[in-house]
Amino acid sequence: MNFLVTGGAGFIGSAVCRHLCANPAYRVTNLDKLTYAGNLASLRPIENAHNYRFEQADICDERAVLDILRRDDIDIVMNLAAESHVDRSIDGPGTFIETNIVGTYRLLNTTLEYWRGLPEDRKTRFRLHHISTDEVFGDLPFDGGMFVEETPYAPSSPYSASKAASDHLVRAWHETYGLPVVLSNCSNNYGPYHFPEKLIPLVILNALDEKPLPVYGAGANVRDWLFVEDHARALELVATKGQVGESYNVGGNSERTNLSVVETICDLLDLRRPRAGGKRYRDLISFVTDRPGHDRRYAIDASKISRDLGWSPKENFDSGLARTVDWFLDNKWWWGPIREQRYAGERLGQSPVEDSPAEDRKGAA
Ligand code: NAD
Ligand code: DAU
Repeated sequence: MNFLVTGGAGFIGSAVCRHLCANPAYRVTNLDKLTYAGNLASLRPIENAHNYRFEQADICDERAVLDILRRDDIDIVMNLAAESHVDRSIDGPGTFIETNIVGTYRLLNTTLEYWRGLPEDRKTRFRLHHISTDEVFGDLPFDGGMFVEETPYAPSSPYSASKAASDHLVRAWHETYGLPVVLSNCSNNYGPYHFPEKLIPLVILNALDEKPLPVYGAGANVRDWLFVEDHARALELVATKGQVGESYNVGGNSERTNLSVVETICDLLDLRRPRAGGKRYRDLISFVTDRPGHDRRYAIDASKISRDLGWSPKENFDSGLARTVDWFLDNKWWWGPIREQRYAGERLGQSPVEDSPAEDRKGAA
C-alpha cells in the first residue's frame, strides 16, 4: 500500500507519517511545501526508514503532484496540507484561501486525472482521504449538544470557512466525477511536535520562560481534546477501511475549558519543574482580549468511527497532557529553534471585544 501524505511535515501529518512507517507493508511519501509550520525535524525518527521519502512541493502545483502520484504508484492520498491556525486566518485570510480552498481544488483535479488513468483493480482500491476539522460545524452552546456527521456546516472564522469550502469541493468531486473519497472531522489535537503558536505548547513553553500565559476572554470556551497519536490511528483506519463517500468524526471525549487546560499544565509543571521561591505557575496566567468570533464550545460525537471502524482513543486527557508536558521538557532540541524565531509566541488576530460583532451574537464566553 503506497500512501501520499500531504502536509506531512506539520503537527498531525508528521504523526501520521511516523505511525504509517511503523508498518513495513506501507510505503509513505510525504509531500510538504514547508511553510512556517512545516518542520522536517518532526520526521527525524523515520527520516532514514526504508519505506519513507520526502518531497518538497505545493499542493497547488498540479504538475509536481501528478509526477509524484505516478512515480510512487500511490494508492491512498491523505490530504493534511493546510493553513491551520485560526488567529493567523483572522490576521491574514489570503493564504487560507490559497492553500485550503484553491490547493484542495487543484489536488482534486490532479488526483482525478491520476485516478482515471489507473488500471481497474487499482482504481477500485484508490482513496483520497481529506482531513478536516470540527470547526466547520461552528458554535455549540455551553449547556449541551454534540457534533455528529450530519450536523449542518456553520463555520465562524476565515480558517473554518476555508476548511468547510474544501470539504464541499471534496464531496462534489465524489458525487460529480466519481472520485473515491473519504473525509474525517476531528477535534483539537495535542501532543508531541505541536507547533508552539497553539494553546497547549504555547502555555508550556511560556511557563518555562516565566512569560505570561495568555487566556482569551474569561477562559470559559470549551474544546474537546484528542491526543495526536490516537488521531493518527484513526486516520489510518478511515483511509484504509472507511466507506467511500462517508465522513467520520474523531474526538477524544475530553471536553475542557481553556482555563482548566492552562491550570492543569501549570499544576503539572509545579511538580516537574518547580519555580524558584515557591511561586506557582498559575500566577503567570493573564486574561487577554478575546479572539473575534470565538466559538464557545466544540464537542465531537465519535460513535460512528467507534461502531463502524472499531476506533477509540487510548489516552485520556490527564495521561495525554502529562505525556505532552514531559515530551516538551525532554525535547528542547525540537522547540528551541522555533521559539527563537520572530513569529513564535506572537498573538495574532487581536481585536477589542467591542469591535467584534461576532462576540455580540454569541455572548461573552
Ligand atoms: P500544521 O499547520 O501543523 O501543518 C500543516 C502542514 O501543511 C505544514 O507542514 C505545512 O508546511 C504544510 N502546507 C501548508 N500549505 C501547503 C501547501 N500549499 N502545499 C503543501 N504543503 C503545505 O497543521 P496540523 O495541525 O498538522 O493540521 C493538519 C490538518 O488537520 C489540517 O488540514 C487541519 O485543518 C486539520 N486539523 C487540525 C487540527 C488540530 O488540532 N491541529 C484539528 C482538526 C483538523
Ligand atoms: O477544533 C479543531 C481546531 O483546533 C483545528 O481545526 C485547528 O487547526 C487547530 O489550530 C485548533 O484550533 P483552535 O483555535 O481551537 O486552537 P488554538 O490552540 O489556537 O486555541 C485553543 C483554544 O485556546 C481556543 O479556544 C483559543 C484559546 N487560546 C488560544 C491561544 C493560542 C487562548 O486562550 N490563548 C492562546 O494564546
